[in-house]
Amino acid sequence: MSILITGGAGYIGSHTCVELIEAGKDIVVIDNYSNSCSESLERVKKITGKDFRYYECDIRDREGLEKVFAENEIEAVIHFAGLKAVGESCQKPWEYYDNNIAGTLVLVDVMRKNGCKKMVFSSSATVYGEENQVPFVETMKTGTTTNPYGTTKLYIENILKDIYNADNEWSIVLLRYFNPVGAHESGLIGEAPSFPNNLMPYVSQVAVGKREFLSIFGDCYNTPDGTGVRDYIHVVDLALGHVKAIDFALPRTGVEIFNLGTGNGVSVIGLVKAFEEANNVSVPYKIVEPRAGDVAYSYANAQKALEILGWKAERDVKKMCEDTWRWQKNNPNGYAN
Ligand code: NAD
Ligand code: UD1
Repeated sequence: MSILITGGAGYIGSHTCVELIEAGKDIVVIDNYSNSCSESLERVKKITGKDFRYYECDIRDREGLEKVFAENEIEAVIHFAGLKAVGESCQKPWEYYDNNIAGTLVLVDVMRKNGCKKMVFSSSATVYGEENQVPFVETMKTGTTTNPYGTTKLYIENILKDIYNADNEWSIVLLRYFNPVGAHESGLIGEAPSFPNNLMPYVSQVAVGKREFLSIFGDCYNTPDGTGVRDYIHVVDLALGHVKAIDFALPRTGVEIFNLGTGNGVSVIGLVKAFEEANNVSVPYKIVEPRAGDVAYSYANAQKALEILGWKAERDVKKMCEDTWRWQKNNPNGYAN
Protein backbone atom coordinates (compact mmCIF):
# COMPACT_ATOMS: atom_id res chain seq x y z
CA MET A 1 0.00 0.00 0.00
CA SER A 2 1.27 3.47 -0.89
CA ILE A 3 0.63 7.03 0.09
CA LEU A 4 -0.08 9.34 -2.83
CA ILE A 5 1.61 12.73 -2.56
CA THR A 6 0.03 15.42 -4.73
CA GLY A 7 2.37 18.35 -5.42
CA GLY A 8 5.23 16.19 -4.18
CA ALA A 9 7.85 17.87 -6.37
CA GLY A 10 7.25 21.19 -4.60
CA TYR A 11 9.02 22.70 -1.63
CA ILE A 12 7.15 21.12 1.29
CA GLY A 13 6.15 18.04 -0.71
CA SER A 14 9.72 17.06 -1.60
CA HIS A 15 10.86 17.36 2.03
CA THR A 16 7.87 15.31 3.13
CA CYS A 17 8.70 12.61 0.56
CA VAL A 18 12.15 12.27 2.18
CA GLU A 19 10.75 11.93 5.70
CA LEU A 20 8.02 9.48 4.64
CA ILE A 21 10.55 7.26 2.89
CA GLU A 22 12.91 7.46 5.87
CA ALA A 23 9.98 6.40 8.07
CA GLY A 24 9.60 3.29 5.89
CA LYS A 25 6.52 4.35 3.87
CA ASP A 26 5.93 3.60 0.20
CA ILE A 27 5.06 6.68 -1.80
CA VAL A 28 3.77 7.64 -5.23
CA VAL A 29 3.98 11.26 -6.38
CA ILE A 30 1.97 13.32 -8.83
CA ASP A 31 2.73 16.87 -9.88
CA ASN A 32 1.97 19.03 -12.92
CA TYR A 33 5.29 20.90 -12.44
CA SER A 34 3.57 24.27 -12.68
CA ASN A 35 5.82 25.46 -9.85
CA SER A 36 8.48 22.75 -9.72
CA CYS A 37 10.35 20.16 -11.77
CA SER A 38 11.12 16.46 -11.53
CA GLU A 39 14.73 17.17 -10.55
CA SER A 40 13.59 17.68 -6.93
CA LEU A 41 12.20 14.12 -6.98
CA GLU A 42 15.44 12.76 -8.41
CA ARG A 43 17.20 14.45 -5.50
CA VAL A 44 14.76 12.88 -3.04
CA LYS A 45 15.88 9.53 -4.49
CA LYS A 46 19.50 10.55 -4.06
CA ILE A 47 19.03 11.58 -0.42
CA THR A 48 17.09 8.46 0.55
CA GLY A 49 18.69 5.92 -1.79
CA LYS A 50 15.16 4.65 -2.53
CA ASP A 51 13.25 4.49 -5.78
CA PHE A 52 9.57 5.44 -6.14
CA ARG A 53 7.13 6.21 -8.93
CA TYR A 54 6.18 9.68 -9.98
CA TYR A 55 3.77 10.90 -12.62
CA GLU A 56 3.31 14.18 -14.42
CA CYS A 57 -0.38 14.63 -13.67
CA ASP A 58 -2.70 17.52 -12.88
CA ILE A 59 -5.17 17.02 -10.03
CA ARG A 60 -7.91 18.29 -12.36
CA ASP A 61 -7.14 15.49 -14.85
CA ARG A 62 -9.64 12.79 -13.89
CA GLU A 63 -8.32 10.22 -16.38
CA GLY A 64 -4.74 10.81 -15.30
CA LEU A 65 -5.71 10.32 -11.65
CA GLU A 66 -7.69 7.16 -12.47
CA LYS A 67 -4.57 5.74 -14.12
CA VAL A 68 -2.48 6.49 -11.04
CA PHE A 69 -5.05 4.78 -8.80
CA ALA A 70 -5.30 1.83 -11.19
CA GLU A 71 -1.54 1.30 -11.29
CA ASN A 72 -0.93 1.69 -7.55
CA GLU A 73 -2.61 0.61 -4.33
CA ILE A 74 -3.22 3.97 -2.72
CA GLU A 75 -4.36 3.90 0.89
CA ALA A 76 -4.17 7.63 1.65
CA VAL A 77 -3.37 10.97 0.05
CA ILE A 78 -1.26 13.85 1.31
CA HIS A 79 -2.56 16.75 -0.70
CA PHE A 80 -0.05 19.56 -1.29
CA ALA A 81 -0.89 20.42 -4.91
CA GLY A 82 -2.06 23.98 -5.28
CA LEU A 83 -1.14 27.48 -6.31
CA LYS A 84 0.14 29.57 -3.41
CA ALA A 85 1.18 33.10 -4.41
CA VAL A 86 -0.99 35.56 -2.51
CA GLY A 87 -0.41 38.53 -4.85
CA GLU A 88 -0.99 36.48 -8.00
CA SER A 89 -4.22 35.10 -6.53
CA CYS A 90 -5.60 38.66 -6.42
CA GLN A 91 -4.77 39.10 -10.14
CA LYS A 92 -5.98 35.64 -11.22
CA PRO A 93 -8.70 34.52 -8.81
CA TRP A 94 -10.34 32.21 -11.39
CA GLU A 95 -7.11 30.24 -11.80
CA TYR A 96 -6.76 29.87 -8.04
CA TYR A 97 -10.33 28.72 -7.48
CA ASP A 98 -10.10 26.35 -10.43
CA ASN A 99 -6.72 24.88 -9.59
CA ASN A 100 -7.09 24.62 -5.82
CA ILE A 101 -10.81 24.08 -5.27
CA ALA A 102 -11.97 22.41 -8.49
CA GLY A 103 -8.77 20.34 -8.44
CA THR A 104 -9.46 19.14 -4.91
CA LEU A 105 -13.03 18.19 -5.88
CA VAL A 106 -11.81 16.02 -8.77
CA LEU A 107 -9.17 14.43 -6.53
CA VAL A 108 -11.65 13.65 -3.76
CA ASP A 109 -14.11 12.18 -6.26
CA VAL A 110 -11.50 9.87 -7.77
CA MET A 111 -10.38 8.89 -4.28
CA ARG A 112 -13.83 7.86 -3.11
CA LYS A 113 -14.56 5.98 -6.33
CA ASN A 114 -11.41 4.00 -5.61
CA GLY A 115 -12.34 3.41 -1.97
CA CYS A 116 -9.57 5.65 -0.66
CA LYS A 117 -10.99 7.94 2.03
CA LYS A 118 -8.00 9.19 3.98
CA MET A 119 -6.50 12.60 3.34
CA VAL A 120 -4.01 14.95 4.96
CA PHE A 121 -4.50 18.46 3.56
CA SER A 122 -2.10 21.45 3.46
CA SER A 123 -4.02 24.31 4.97
CA SER A 124 -2.58 27.56 6.26
CA ALA A 125 -2.55 29.81 9.30
CA THR A 126 -4.10 32.35 6.94
CA VAL A 127 -7.54 30.83 7.79
CA TYR A 128 -7.35 32.47 11.23
CA GLY A 129 -7.84 35.79 9.40
CA GLU A 130 -7.48 39.19 10.96
CA GLU A 131 -10.03 38.85 13.76
CA ASN A 132 -8.35 36.29 16.00
CA GLN A 133 -5.70 37.09 18.60
CA VAL A 134 -2.40 35.21 18.87
CA PRO A 135 -1.55 32.53 19.74
CA PHE A 136 -3.90 30.90 17.26
CA VAL A 137 -5.70 27.82 18.59
CA GLU A 138 -7.46 25.23 16.41
CA THR A 139 -10.76 25.76 18.25
CA MET A 140 -10.96 29.43 17.18
CA LYS A 141 -13.60 30.35 14.64
CA THR A 142 -11.91 30.83 11.27
CA GLY A 143 -11.56 34.46 10.26
CA THR A 144 -12.05 36.55 7.16
CA THR A 145 -9.43 35.82 4.53
CA THR A 146 -7.88 38.78 2.74
CA ASN A 147 -7.09 37.24 -0.65
CA PRO A 148 -8.34 34.49 -3.01
CA TYR A 149 -5.45 32.16 -2.09
CA GLY A 150 -6.48 32.25 1.56
CA THR A 151 -10.11 31.82 0.58
CA THR A 152 -9.28 28.63 -1.32
CA LYS A 153 -7.73 27.18 1.86
CA LEU A 154 -10.76 28.12 3.95
CA TYR A 155 -13.23 26.73 1.39
CA ILE A 156 -11.31 23.49 0.98
CA GLU A 157 -11.27 23.01 4.76
CA ASN A 158 -15.06 23.47 4.78
CA ILE A 159 -15.57 21.21 1.76
CA LEU A 160 -13.56 18.42 3.39
CA LYS A 161 -15.54 18.80 6.63
CA ASP A 162 -18.79 18.51 4.64
CA ILE A 163 -17.50 15.42 2.86
CA TYR A 164 -16.83 13.78 6.22
CA ASN A 165 -20.26 14.87 7.52
CA ALA A 166 -21.89 13.20 4.53
CA ASP A 167 -19.77 10.04 4.73
CA ASN A 168 -18.29 9.13 8.10
CA GLU A 169 -15.87 6.64 6.55
CA TRP A 170 -13.52 9.50 5.70
CA SER A 171 -10.48 10.37 7.77
CA ILE A 172 -9.35 13.92 7.17
CA VAL A 173 -6.50 15.82 8.80
CA LEU A 174 -6.27 19.55 8.15
CA LEU A 175 -2.77 20.86 8.83
CA ARG A 176 -2.50 24.61 9.30
CA TYR A 177 1.08 25.55 8.50
CA PHE A 178 2.66 28.68 9.90
CA ASN A 179 5.73 29.99 8.00
CA PRO A 180 7.80 27.16 6.50
CA VAL A 181 11.46 28.04 5.90
CA GLY A 182 14.81 26.24 5.69
CA ALA A 183 15.90 23.31 3.58
CA HIS A 184 17.10 19.74 3.89
CA GLU A 185 20.45 19.48 5.66
CA SER A 186 22.02 17.85 2.58
CA GLY A 187 21.63 21.11 0.64
CA LEU A 188 20.09 19.06 -2.19
CA ILE A 189 16.46 20.16 -1.90
CA GLY A 190 14.97 23.50 -0.88
CA GLU A 191 12.65 26.28 -1.92
CA ALA A 192 13.28 27.46 -5.48
CA PRO A 193 10.94 30.33 -6.36
CA SER A 194 11.63 32.11 -9.64
CA PHE A 195 10.49 35.25 -7.90
CA PRO A 196 10.42 35.21 -4.09
CA ASN A 197 7.17 36.29 -2.42
CA ASN A 198 7.97 35.26 1.13
CA LEU A 199 10.55 36.69 3.48
CA MET A 200 13.17 33.94 3.84
CA PRO A 201 13.77 33.30 0.11
CA TYR A 202 14.10 37.05 -0.34
CA VAL A 203 16.61 37.34 2.52
CA SER A 204 18.76 34.55 1.09
CA GLN A 205 18.66 36.00 -2.42
CA VAL A 206 19.86 39.34 -1.04
CA ALA A 207 22.61 37.58 0.92
CA VAL A 208 23.82 35.71 -2.19
CA GLY A 209 23.89 38.98 -4.18
CA LYS A 210 20.99 38.23 -6.55
CA ARG A 211 19.06 41.20 -5.13
CA GLU A 212 20.45 44.46 -3.79
CA PHE A 213 18.41 44.86 -0.62
CA LEU A 214 15.41 43.54 1.28
CA SER A 215 12.34 45.77 1.53
CA ILE A 216 10.88 45.44 5.00
CA PHE A 217 7.14 46.00 4.81
CA GLY A 218 6.59 48.49 7.62
CA ASP A 219 8.20 49.11 11.02
CA CYS A 220 5.21 50.70 12.73
CA TYR A 221 3.33 47.60 13.88
CA ASN A 222 2.54 47.23 17.54
CA THR A 223 5.39 44.71 18.02
CA PRO A 224 8.68 45.03 19.97
CA ASP A 225 10.71 46.38 17.00
CA GLY A 226 7.73 47.53 14.89
CA THR A 227 8.10 44.82 12.23
CA GLY A 228 5.73 41.89 11.66
CA VAL A 229 6.07 38.83 13.89
CA ARG A 230 5.71 35.31 12.44
CA ASP A 231 6.08 31.71 13.51
CA TYR A 232 8.88 30.39 11.25
CA ILE A 233 9.06 26.61 11.17
CA HIS A 234 11.83 24.47 9.67
CA VAL A 235 10.50 22.59 6.64
CA VAL A 236 11.98 19.32 7.92
CA ASP A 237 10.02 19.68 11.18
CA LEU A 238 6.94 20.41 9.07
CA ALA A 239 7.62 17.31 6.96
CA LEU A 240 7.95 15.19 10.11
CA GLY A 241 4.57 16.56 11.19
CA HIS A 242 3.09 14.95 8.06
CA VAL A 243 4.54 11.56 8.99
CA LYS A 244 2.80 11.84 12.37
CA ALA A 245 -0.39 13.10 10.73
CA ILE A 246 -0.61 10.22 8.26
CA ASP A 247 0.00 7.69 11.03
CA PHE A 248 -2.79 9.38 12.96
CA ALA A 249 -5.20 9.43 9.98
CA LEU A 250 -4.71 5.84 8.79
CA PRO A 251 -6.40 3.86 11.57
CA ARG A 252 -9.19 6.42 12.18
CA THR A 253 -12.17 8.21 10.74
CA GLY A 254 -13.13 11.83 11.46
CA VAL A 255 -11.85 15.34 10.85
CA GLU A 256 -9.03 16.72 12.96
CA ILE A 257 -7.24 20.07 12.68
CA PHE A 258 -3.65 20.69 13.81
CA ASN A 259 -1.48 23.79 13.82
CA LEU A 260 2.04 23.04 12.65
CA GLY A 261 4.13 25.84 14.11
CA THR A 262 6.76 26.33 16.80
CA GLY A 263 4.66 28.57 19.03
CA ASN A 264 7.41 31.25 18.91
CA GLY A 265 7.15 34.59 17.17
CA VAL A 266 10.16 36.19 15.41
CA SER A 267 10.11 39.69 13.88
CA VAL A 268 11.32 40.53 10.37
CA ILE A 269 14.34 42.36 11.75
CA GLY A 270 14.90 39.48 14.18
CA LEU A 271 15.02 37.01 11.29
CA VAL A 272 17.38 39.22 9.26
CA LYS A 273 19.77 39.52 12.24
CA ALA A 274 19.59 35.78 12.92
CA PHE A 275 20.42 35.07 9.26
CA GLU A 276 23.38 37.47 9.30
CA GLU A 277 24.77 35.97 12.52
CA ALA A 278 24.22 32.33 11.60
CA ASN A 279 25.88 32.67 8.21
CA ASN A 280 28.28 35.57 8.67
CA VAL A 281 26.76 37.48 5.75
CA SER A 282 25.21 40.88 5.31
CA VAL A 283 21.55 41.47 4.40
CA PRO A 284 21.02 45.17 3.62
CA TYR A 285 17.44 46.33 4.02
CA LYS A 286 15.18 49.36 3.62
CA ILE A 287 11.94 50.02 5.44
CA VAL A 288 9.07 50.55 2.99
CA GLU A 289 5.29 50.85 3.27
CA PRO A 290 3.38 48.00 4.97
CA ARG A 291 2.04 45.33 2.59
CA ALA A 292 -1.73 45.21 2.22
CA GLY A 293 -3.33 42.33 4.10
CA ASP A 294 -0.41 41.78 6.52
CA VAL A 295 -1.11 41.32 10.22
CA ALA A 296 1.23 42.39 13.04
CA TYR A 297 1.36 38.98 14.70
CA SER A 298 0.89 35.38 13.61
CA TYR A 299 2.03 32.47 15.73
CA ALA A 300 0.65 29.15 16.79
CA ASN A 301 -0.47 27.52 19.95
CA ALA A 302 1.30 24.24 19.14
CA GLN A 303 -0.05 22.19 22.08
CA LYS A 304 -2.59 20.06 20.25
CA ALA A 305 -0.06 18.56 17.83
CA LEU A 306 2.20 17.78 20.79
CA GLU A 307 -0.54 16.18 22.87
CA ILE A 308 -2.28 14.19 20.13
CA LEU A 309 0.35 13.58 17.45
CA GLY A 310 3.36 13.58 19.76
CA TRP A 311 4.93 16.10 17.39
CA LYS A 312 6.96 19.17 18.25
CA ALA A 313 9.19 21.40 16.10
CA GLU A 314 12.80 20.78 17.18
CA ARG A 315 14.90 22.97 14.86
CA ASP A 316 15.64 26.55 15.97
CA VAL A 317 15.91 29.77 13.95
CA LYS A 318 19.70 29.46 13.65
CA LYS A 319 19.31 26.04 12.03
CA MET A 320 16.58 27.40 9.71
CA CYS A 321 18.99 30.14 8.58
CA GLU A 322 22.00 27.82 8.18
CA ASP A 323 20.08 25.27 6.11
CA THR A 324 18.48 27.94 3.92
CA TRP A 325 21.93 29.38 3.22
CA ARG A 326 23.52 26.01 2.39
CA TRP A 327 20.76 25.32 -0.14
CA GLN A 328 20.97 28.84 -1.60
CA LYS A 329 24.78 28.80 -1.95
CA ASN A 330 24.86 25.34 -3.51
CA ASN A 331 21.94 26.04 -5.84
CA PRO A 332 21.94 29.76 -6.70
CA ASN A 333 19.54 29.06 -9.58
CA GLY A 334 17.41 26.53 -7.76
CA TYR A 335 17.10 23.27 -9.70
CA ALA A 336 17.89 24.98 -13.01
CA ASN A 337 21.37 23.54 -13.35
P1 NAD B 1 5.03 24.57 -4.05
O1 NAD B 1 4.49 25.47 -5.10
O2 NAD B 1 6.50 24.43 -3.94
O3 NAD B 1 4.39 23.11 -4.19
C1 NAD B 1 3.11 22.89 -4.73
C2 NAD B 1 3.27 21.86 -5.83
O4 NAD B 1 2.00 21.58 -6.39
C3 NAD B 1 4.17 22.34 -6.97
O5 NAD B 1 5.14 21.34 -7.24
C4 NAD B 1 3.22 22.52 -8.15
O6 NAD B 1 3.86 22.26 -9.39
C5 NAD B 1 2.13 21.53 -7.82
N1 NAD B 1 0.82 21.82 -8.38
C6 NAD B 1 0.16 23.00 -8.38
N2 NAD B 1 -1.04 22.87 -8.97
C7 NAD B 1 -1.15 21.57 -9.34
C8 NAD B 1 -2.16 20.81 -10.01
N3 NAD B 1 -3.29 21.37 -10.42
N4 NAD B 1 -1.93 19.49 -10.22
C9 NAD B 1 -0.78 18.90 -9.83
N5 NAD B 1 0.22 19.58 -9.21
C10 NAD B 1 0.02 20.89 -8.95
O7 NAD B 1 4.42 25.05 -2.66
P2 NAD B 1 4.73 24.56 -1.18
O8 NAD B 1 5.32 25.71 -0.45
O9 NAD B 1 5.44 23.29 -1.19
O10 NAD B 1 3.25 24.38 -0.64
C11 NAD B 1 2.61 23.13 -0.62
C12 NAD B 1 1.19 23.31 -0.10
O11 NAD B 1 1.24 23.90 1.20
C13 NAD B 1 0.34 24.24 -0.96
O12 NAD B 1 -0.98 23.74 -0.98
C14 NAD B 1 0.41 25.55 -0.20
O13 NAD B 1 -0.71 26.36 -0.45
C15 NAD B 1 0.43 25.07 1.23
N6 NAD B 1 1.01 26.05 2.14
C16 NAD B 1 2.27 26.54 1.89
C17 NAD B 1 2.81 27.48 2.75
C18 NAD B 1 4.18 28.06 2.47
O14 NAD B 1 4.52 29.09 3.04
N7 NAD B 1 5.02 27.46 1.63
C19 NAD B 1 2.10 27.92 3.86
C20 NAD B 1 0.83 27.38 4.11
C21 NAD B 1 0.30 26.44 3.23
C1 UD1 C 1 2.17 35.03 3.55
C2 UD1 C 1 0.75 35.13 3.08
C3 UD1 C 1 -0.06 34.00 3.68
C4 UD1 C 1 0.57 32.66 3.33
C5 UD1 C 1 2.02 32.68 3.83
C6 UD1 C 1 2.76 31.42 3.49
C7 UD1 C 1 0.32 37.52 2.66
C8 UD1 C 1 -0.45 38.70 3.07
N1 UD1 C 1 0.17 36.42 3.42
O1 UD1 C 1 2.20 35.13 4.94
O2 UD1 C 1 -1.38 34.02 3.16
O3 UD1 C 1 -0.13 31.60 3.95
O4 UD1 C 1 2.71 33.78 3.22
O5 UD1 C 1 2.87 31.29 2.10
O6 UD1 C 1 1.03 37.54 1.67
N2 UD1 C 1 8.18 40.68 4.63
C9 UD1 C 1 8.97 41.77 4.37
N3 UD1 C 1 9.59 41.85 3.17
C10 UD1 C 1 9.47 40.90 2.19
C11 UD1 C 1 8.65 39.77 2.45
C12 UD1 C 1 7.99 39.70 3.68
O7 UD1 C 1 9.12 42.64 5.22
O8 UD1 C 1 10.07 41.04 1.10
C13 UD1 C 1 7.53 40.55 5.94
C14 UD1 C 1 6.01 40.52 5.90
O9 UD1 C 1 5.48 41.81 5.98
C15 UD1 C 1 5.70 39.66 7.14
C16 UD1 C 1 6.89 38.71 7.23
O10 UD1 C 1 7.93 39.31 6.48
O11 UD1 C 1 5.69 40.47 8.29
C17 UD1 C 1 6.62 37.33 6.65
O12 UD1 C 1 6.11 37.49 5.33
P1 UD1 C 1 5.84 36.25 4.36
O13 UD1 C 1 7.03 35.37 4.34
O14 UD1 C 1 5.35 36.78 3.07
O15 UD1 C 1 4.69 35.43 5.10
P2 UD1 C 1 3.28 35.93 5.70
O16 UD1 C 1 3.04 37.35 5.45
O17 UD1 C 1 3.22 35.47 7.11
